[in-house]
Amino acid sequence: MFVTVFLLLVTLCAQGGYGEEIDEAQRPGHVSVVIVGGTGDLAKKYLWQGFFELYVNQVKNGYTFSFYGGGLSPADKATPVLFEILKAVSCSKDVSQERCALLKEQFLRLSQYRQLQSVEDYQDLAKHIEKELQQEGMTEAGRLFYLSVPAFAYADIADKINSSCRPTSGAWLRVVLEKPFGHDFRSAQVLASQLGNSLKDEEMYRIDHYLGKQVVSRILPFREENKKLLDPIWNRHHIERVEIVLKETLDVKGRIPFYDQYGVVRDVLQNHLTEVMTLLTMSLPMNLSSNEEVLRNKLQVFRSLLPVGKNQAVVGQYQEYKTEVQQELNKTKDHISITPTFAAVLMYIDEAQYEGVPILLISGKMLDERVGYSRILFKNDIFCLQNHNSVHCKPKQIVFHFGHGSLEYPAILVSKNLFKPVLMDSEWKEVTKHKDVDVLSLPLSDYYVQTPIVQREAYYELISHIFAGRKNSFISTENLLASWGLWTPLLSSLASTFPRIYPGGAENGDLLDVRIKGKDISYHNEVVIISNDQIGGFQVMQGKFRSSDMVSAWTEELVVRLAADIQEAAEAAVREAGVFHLALSGGSSPLALFQRLTLHHFSFPWRDTHVWMVDERCVPLTDSESNFRNLHDHLLHHVRIPYYNIHPMPVQINQRLCVEEDGGALLYEKEVSKWVNGSSFHFVLLGVGYDSHTASLFPGSKVDGHGESLVALTESPVKPHQRMTLTFSAINRAHKVALLVMGKGKHELITQLSRVKDNPDKWPVTGVKPANGRLVWYIDYDALLG
Ligand SMILES: *[C@@H]1O[C@H](CO)[C@@H](O)[C@H](O)[C@H]1NC(C)=O
Ligand SMILES: *[C@@H]1O[C@H](CO)[C@@H](O)[C@H](O)[C@H]1NC(C)=O
Ligand SMILES: *[C@@H]1O[C@H](CO)[C@@H](O)[C@H](O)[C@H]1NC(C)=O
Ligand SMILES: *[C@@H]1O[C@H](CO)[C@@H](O)[C@H](O)[C@H]1NC(C)=O
Repeated sequence: MFVTVFLLLVTLCAQGGYGEEIDEAQRPGHVSVVIVGGTGDLAKKYLWQGFFELYVNQVKNGYTFSFYGGGLSPADKATPVLFEILKAVSCSKDVSQERCALLKEQFLRLSQYRQLQSVEDYQDLAKHIEKELQQEGMTEAGRLFYLSVPAFAYADIADKINSSCRPTSGAWLRVVLEKPFGHDFRSAQVLASQLGNSLKDEEMYRIDHYLGKQVVSRILPFREENKKLLDPIWNRHHIERVEIVLKETLDVKGRIPFYDQYGVVRDVLQNHLTEVMTLLTMSLPMNLSSNEEVLRNKLQVFRSLLPVGKNQAVVGQYQEYKTEVQQELNKTKDHISITPTFAAVLMYIDEAQYEGVPILLISGKMLDERVGYSRILFKNDIFCLQNHNSVHCKPKQIVFHFGHGSLEYPAILVSKNLFKPVLMDSEWKEVTKHKDVDVLSLPLSDYYVQTPIVQREAYYELISHIFAGRKNSFISTENLLASWGLWTPLLSSLASTFPRIYPGGAENGDLLDVRIKGKDISYHNEVVIISNDQIGGFQVMQGKFRSSDMVSAWTEELVVRLAADIQEAAEAAVREAGVFHLALSGGSSPLALFQRLTLHHFSFPWRDTHVWMVDERCVPLTDSESNFRNLHDHLLHHVRIPYYNIHPMPVQINQRLCVEEDGGALLYEKEVSKWVNGSSFHFVLLGVGYDSHTASLFPGSKVDGHGESLVALTESPVKPHQRMTLTFSAINRAHKVALLVMGKGKHELITQLSRVKDNPDKWPVTGVKPANGRLVWYIDYDALLG
């Protein structure tokens, strides 16, 4: 170990042009570590622990260290805070208690807090370091600044480091920065050029801590070691799709001022998931240790990625987010944020090897479990006739399991029906005893599993890479800008997209399931469920319901909108055909609509409108149960419509009601055929009952069994039992069909309908499918939201 680290350092120094360091081989020199933001959360949680481990490992190699926690607070206030943090560092298991106590004591002795605010503060720090070096007669190996501060402070600090705190000549300077690196392409460019004024590219270490995860950093070595097995299948002929998924259970409470400006795409997809994607798809470098080659091949991936269009992303937001925003940003109750907390994005690489292979990047807050993984799912062309559990019928996949989830530890899993991977890394082992858990729908025992012998924090890995001057786990300026170049257009096109609201946790159910269709991605479940208060200023919302268009609003606005749509259809039909054929349903839902239509009776082309019945109860037309009577009382009576334009259903013939032999249905059908061109109504208004019946087509009554007939007699389960109705043949010929659903009582039905497949016998309303026309659902918020 000593030898390798030592040689690597010598090589590095030599490459850096500091040949004289080789003469100092016995004493590699002194390193000053400065954590700016040294008492902040990240420093407290990971950084000090990481630097302690570095200290423990490198002291053996002859390095000497001093550590500085920097911050804006004066030293008397912050010093005790820093030491509380430092006291909490711990040793790894293989260090004895006594030795650990000793190492900790030394570490504390070498550490101090320094206020780092003004240029003078940085000058003082430099003087302090130089004085120490002189007093102890030490050579300086380098200075490492870790900027654990908000990104807006980067440029200023980098400037102060450059002007006042560069190391003595011959020693290295490394400045570590962590995302966000800008907000979009422009801001990333500005930040990069500001930093470029103060730091050389090789002095900047832009960290993506995801790259320090043990499984992520083994993706390339794994691909290399298994090259012979992977080469034949790592392509579009064999890969079904690639998934990169980071699921979180936490919300962003307390971080809203930051998060609301970024959202999940900037926070996670643009950086962590994109980096993983490049590792999976880049061409393997000839030399895995060559930073330049790794970065160059990653850049090549960005060049071949097809632009990501608006239809290649769906976004969501957890329900409580809005309230958190109002509280933390001090906004009023009607403030709405459309920042996504969930996103699924579909990408394609324009290269023969991956042509047409969907690459899915998914992440979200407040999901059902905490887990990070990426999966290469391979095509399986084997059909198992009898035993679907045969190993060769199961999914063929390689899973890079970053951590958490059901497996709980980081691992690389290869399904046994694929191949047995080789393992050449001595820090990894094969797992042979399997817990009884499933990982991505396969029991663990169906995988070959490799895992690190010792689990290490990503930050420790990265800190040791920084110390070794290894840069392939870091983001170069060029790669950073390439990534923003990819994401910025998508972010702009999503800027006005209303996210799907999800309740959070297990309750999300299948709400966030997505489906890939051609080059597009959509939510699998098309019902839009939004919470009451989420609607806020939105009066009328458009969406999709059962793959058709949906208009939703509070009842009053919805009725106004439907009335306007009917009038528009009427005017268009009169313009084109000189006549407008409107078929109206009975029931109580349309009453509000009828009232609305009477309000505008002067502008509506009633003179050229023919009114037809969708269905009728077999009662005398004067009966209070008669649909026609209702229509008459609430609409026809109030508008100037010619008498012969009104077409009630002939339910009463020969003084009897709906007798088959009297041929009432056939009579009405003939009337329709005679008046209505092609028997295609311009507009059919339907409702839907609690049992999902529409018109008078009831569940379990062979609703499709009316053949070509346009009108039929049917039986209702409720009184009056006999009905006359338009059939699906008539309804589905219409130019436009509106399905009006209102009231809280229909919420259950709407929820059910959003999930069921077409099955008109069971769910008659699912048989409404205009062949050449358009179906629009008008659902009020009560029915939609319950
Ligand atoms: C750092 O500061 C010096 C002046 O002190 C300036 O000449 C130099 O360009 C700056 N930037 C870099 C990358 O050295
Ligand atoms: C691979 O790259 C590393 C780092 O640049 C270098 O030290 C090493 O010699 C290279 N190996 C080969 C075989 O070229
Ligand atoms: C919130 O806004 C109100 C009204 O603008 C203001 O009076 C109050 O001081 C603000 N509170 C905070 C915490 O910013
Ligand atoms: C009847 O419909 C057909 C087909 O849609 C159309 O071509 C024709 O012009 C229509 N006739 C009248 C009188 O509107």
